Amino acid sequence: MQFGHFDDEAREYVIETPHTPYPWINYLGSQEFFGLVSHTGGGYCFYRDAKMRRLTRYRYNNTPVDDGGRFFSINDGGDVWSPSYRPYKTELDFFETRHGMGYTRITGERGGLRASVLLFVPVDVNAEIHQVTVTNTSDAAKSFSMFSFVEFCLWNAEDDQTNYQRNLSIGEVEVEGGAIYHKTEYRERRNHYAVYGVNAPIAGFDTDRDTYLGYGNGFHEAAVPHAGKSGNSVASGWYPCASHQLEIELAPGESKTYTFVLGYLENAEDDKWESPGVVNKTGAKELLARFATNDATDAEFAKLNAYWDQLLGSYTVESGDDKLNRMVNIWNQYQCMVTYNMSRSASYFETGMGRGMGFRDSSQDLLGFVHLVPERARERIIDIASTQFEDGSAYHQYQPLTKRGNHALGSGFNDDPLWLIAGVAAYIKETGDFAILDEMVPFDNDESLARPLMEHLKRSFNHPLEKAGPHGLPLIGRADWNDCLNLNCFSSTPGESFQTTENQAGGVAESVFIAGMFVAIGPDYAALARRRGDDAEADRAEAAVATMKQVVVDHGWDGEWFLRAYDFYGNKVGTNETAEGKIWIEPQGFCIMGGIGVADGKAIKALDSCREHLNTPHGMVLQSPAYTTYQIQLGEVSTYPPGYKENGGIFCHNNPWIIIAETVVGRAEYAWEYYKQITPAYREEISEVHRLEPYVYAQMIAGKEASRHGEAKNSWLTGTASWNFVTVSQYLLGVRADYDGLVVDPCIGAEVGEYTVRRQIRGATYVINVKSTGAKGAKLTVDGVPIEDNTVPYAVAGSIVQVTATI
Ligand code: GLC
Ligand code: GLC
Repeated sequence: MQFGHFDDEAREYVIETPHTPYPWINYLGSQEFFGLVSHTGGGYCFYRDAKMRRLTRYRYNNTPVDDGGRFFSINDGGDVWSPSYRPYKTELDFFETRHGMGYTRITGERGGLRASVLLFVPVDVNAEIHQVTVTNTSDAAKSFSMFSFVEFCLWNAEDDQTNYQRNLSIGEVEVEGGAIYHKTEYRERRNHYAVYGVNAPIAGFDTDRDTYLGYGNGFHEAAVPHAGKSGNSVASGWYPCASHQLEIELAPGESKTYTFVLGYLENAEDDKWESPGVVNKTGAKELLARFATNDATDAEFAKLNAYWDQLLGSYTVESGDDKLNRMVNIWNQYQCMVTYNMSRSASYFETGMGRGMGFRDSSQDLLGFVHLVPERARERIIDIASTQFEDGSAYHQYQPLTKRGNHALGSGFNDDPLWLIAGVAAYIKETGDFAILDEMVPFDNDESLARPLMEHLKRSFNHPLEKAGPHGLPLIGRADWNDCLNLNCFSSTPGESFQTTENQAGGVAESVFIAGMFVAIGPDYAALARRRGDDAEADRAEAAVATMKQVVVDHGWDGEWFLRAYDFYGNKVGTNETAEGKIWIEPQGFCIMGGIGVADGKAIKALDSCREHLNTPHGMVLQSPAYTTYQIQLGEVSTYPPGYKENGGIFCHNNPWIIIAETVVGRAEYAWEYYKQITPAYREEISEVHRLEPYVYAQMIAGKEASRHGEAKNSWLTGTASWNFVTVSQYLLGVRADYDGLVVDPCIGAEVGEYTVRRQIRGATYVINVKSTGAKGAKLTVDGVPIEDNTVPYAVAGSIVQVTATI
């Protein structure tokens, strides 16, 4: 069952009903100002940091779900309704929400009146634009009132939800003309304020929530729109909000358009006041003037669309499969951008009050983002590496506002260091910018400890070698990629966080997964050293990788698949010898990506075991069978009920590792089948089961032991976005950047048939026509001339290179 459809021409997903199984959302903003908006107008916005600079309030765990947002309400002769359906939930004659690239357009029609709200954040403006067009579709003249509404958050979103002792007394606003100013705490230590204005004369306003709603009312029964008259209330403490009243007259067939601007402004400390107690509003007035005409707003919207044309131009595919085309050309890349911008901070599953930027997460996000805006990837790499410790280990996260690492999410995750090598290698392959390796980058943000980035990579590379356990495998530390496999933790205190509680220093628990990572990512470190002319270091690195491969073969193989780990006592984890948690997905993917067992059949055996034990029609579960009881020696993984999250859920993040592994062994059909299982466009038809947005990946789909098998959770902000883009673009379609050229090595299901990839990289364009699919081993021609291997050398900037690949 579907609740909408893709409009690929417009790059939109069109939601046809307000009654989706869950709020289906979109993101607005690309630089510093961001908003989340659901298909019924819910959500919130913030400047840079969803916790510290929240403009509008949002209630988590609320009922009804998704109440609160930017709401427009119409009183048409006593008939009160909202074009976004919520909050009034009055039935509409027509409803449609179009989520596009950085904008959302919500349209509702009732009783011969159509209202369409376009929400977007212009490319370089710190504001949300709400452009409302009302059209009289009846054959009689209409005269009606329209009300806007947003509720302000008192800036710090966490404090806003908890500190009522203070917060119920500090709310302050100003109203001037049609503009409403939110200035809570501006009188003391804040130099920033918000404005909500409109480019038309207003008939009234409200800034006090209780006046607007009427005491005790929900948003769906707000008093002011029902009365058809604003209260002209000025908030003093309690709950500041902003609402405008517009009186509108329309002849039959006539349309009118209004631009509302919800902006964030800062003033210099010595320039805060216009007069005592009155905010200096110069910045806000300039902002509103910029959007004084609807044409100016249209021009900003056109700029946003052009920005996305350019971004999405660096990798496109044309094939006979619409679902594949729309994921590759539009939605998967779009999700990579959003995930890169947000990390794991603000979604309908992340409150925006907890996590900053993850070392591991951001490094992986780079993999799917680096081709979009390489300069921003460079900056991110330096930020991440600056939080690394001298011994190669890392803070697990850092705050975007301060760029300082902290231990709020724990420390000692021994996979962290290696992800930095993966991110840097991807960046250099994309850009050829080897100079980044000479950049002086601090350790632990201490400039006196600055060393070249290459030295950081060396310490990343050495970390698993220096922290090796009894079998020569890397020690797991607090956990590796799997946050929930906590082998040194032994927590028995209710509610204690597995990420931050004291870890025992056993020196025994080892990770086969980190060994796989080392083997898969280590060669990039060696390649960088060799390209810098440091052959001795490259040789050392290659030898260390070869040794680790052998260690995995000797101590990391269970007979039918790769082991997962050794626990605190040296017992095997992920072995056929136990009844539960026999086989885990992560080491199968990474060991094979590192080439282990490819020559001697172990890789195929492991992948066949994945197919037998892990695969479901909804994707591969993380491990199987799921744990039915709490295993104190394994940590958080077994705290989840069977089939959810790391305990046997389908973690979409690491399905791509298996897909890549299938391409490594050349099994195009399995790789393709697994890709389609988890990819949202292919799941659109089962939206009633999947329940979340059919245009973006979710972190998890409930696994086979869960009663809600197939139901997705935690959409949008997940490493799934970048790993799936890497998988489909570089391994299935098979076009990937390498140091000296573009590798063309397709391995995708036969049903895809002939396709063409256009890839822009380092200033040149490559038009790659793949003539046949269903297997691996393409022979290439470059501008008509056959070449020996699979690497198309980089051409000079400006050139267009024609490549054909035939299998
Ligand atoms: C979450 C975390 C990620 C971790 C994964 C598996 O997605 O953001 O860092 O690797 O869970 O536990
Ligand atoms: C929990 C989740 C895991 C996430 C971690 C950090 O352990 O299960 O997926 O990575 O929290 O937030």
